[in-house]
Amino acid sequence: MVKLIRDTWQLAEPYTPEISQFFYGMLFTLAPATRDFFPINMEVQRGRLVRALVHVVQLVDRPDDLAPFLRQLGRDHRKFGVVPKHYEAVGTALLAALKRHLGDAWTPQVERAWAEAYTIIARAMQEAAAADEYPASWTGTVAEHRRLSWDLALIRVEPEHHIPYRAGQYLSVEVPQRPRLWRYLSPANAPRDDGSLEFHVRAVDGGWVSRAIVSHTQSGDVWRIGPPMGRMAVDRQTGRDVLMVAGGTGVAPLRAILDDLGRWGTNPHVTLFYGGATSDDLYDLEQLRALASTNPWLTVHPVVEHGEGLPGFEHGTLADVVTRHGAWPGHDVLVSGSPAMIRATVSRMLVAGTALDQIRYDPFTID
Ligand SMILES: Cc1cc2nc3c(=O)[nH]c(=O)nc-3n(C[C@H](O)[C@H](O)[C@H](O)COP(=O)(O)OP(=O)(O)OC[C@H]3O[C@@H](n4cnc5c(N)ncnc54)[C@H](O)[C@@H]3O)c2cc1C
Ligand code: HEM
Repeated sequence: MVKLIRDTWQLAEPYTPEISQFFYGMLFTLAPATRDFFPINMEVQRGRLVRALVHVVQLVDRPDDLAPFLRQLGRDHRKFGVVPKHYEAVGTALLAALKRHLGDAWTPQVERAWAEAYTIIARAMQEAAAADEYPASWTGTVAEHRRLSWDLALIRVEPEHHIPYRAGQYLSVEVPQRPRLWRYLSPANAPRDDGSLEFHVRAVDGGWVSRAIVSHTQSGDVWRIGPPMGRMAVDRQTGRDVLMVAGGTGVAPLRAILDDLGRWGTNPHVTLFYGGATSDDLYDLEQLRALASTNPWLTVHPVVEHGEGLPGFEHGTLADVVTRHGAWPGHDVLVSGSPAMIRATVSRMLVAGTALDQIRYDPFTID
């Protein structure tokens, strides 16, 4: 089933813009209410949903990895207002769009493969959505917006009600400057008594939402926040030491985990490699060093790609530097950063001899 899906997607992928256009046309005809889930200007998101759908459908043969993610994704989709009949409409529109662009390659076997995989995935998402006892989304008010550098801001949000997240998880947010453009962000703090969340946001080139957050967020703005997602965590019971590898704002969820560990007297030893292109990118280094100075179980290694000879810094990409230290046997490994950084680090660690089941990261992103 998966081979048929992958082979046909390879043929169809160059036509993603046309497939997406047809998909949305059909979806909005079959289920007009779904138009309101998407931004007014559809150009902004282009093929986002189609690429996301195809990406997830191709993972149908990895049920162990996929099942927890699908449950979270199903709960998360409630924030749009998605109900079961919309899943049917999305499935029909996706298959019709693929059929139209695949011509003769769309055989009955291919159609069955796509339909079966979509049904399995949509069912898992809907079951989790139906079973969820929490609200579909929360609102929170921005209490602080502080520029840490020209392209980076710290935003503290006070939710109206406690959001049940674990340190290391991420959430999606919708900000008033960019309605209906939800983006994932990772709280940089463990859950607090007052429920407040701190986000570190970097403005990416050409980024619709991140630039608006960094430049235009104001105290008093009301954000919508989706359900917690993600599997990064430290299990203190295993007694295994921990290696953390953080690139840029990828440090945020790891900081939340360190914040959580800081509440306990004894912890596994944690080695954190924190990397960026230059030392200016390591905006959180001083706070991390302060944390390490009072918590002997934590060691922080700053890493820069450019700027050889900086005292106290290791030089190279995170993938280079971490694997220079060996295969990290006996460690649980958490990797967090851009998709490219995660890919490079995980693949180099596997070559260096680290076992895949030692490593955790949140891989399901389409960027
Ligand atoms: C699990 C997870 C957790 C995340 N946590 C955080 C966080 O704590 N803080 C934070 O600032 N961001 C975080 N992100 C990234 C964030 O969700 C957005 O993708 C990012 O802010 C860009 O959104 P945008 O709307 O500005 O860019 P878009 O308009 O969606 O994209 C514009 C362009 O930027 C490129 N782009 C998208 N993301 C990146 C990136 N990360 N680096 C470089 N180029 C990129 C796109 O490919 C595209 O070409 C996280 C992402 C995931 C998947
Ligand atoms: C098997 C079914 C589905 C899967 C696997 C799926 C998967 C995903 C994923 C992974 C994303 C996140 C993309 C990102 O921002 O990184 C997403 C976004 C989204 N999904 Fe779904 N989805 C499914 C069904 C649906 C349905 C039935 C609807 C209702 C119309 C829907 C509406 C949306 C919307 C509005 C977004 C926001 C992105 C955008 O604006 O295009 N999805 N989906």
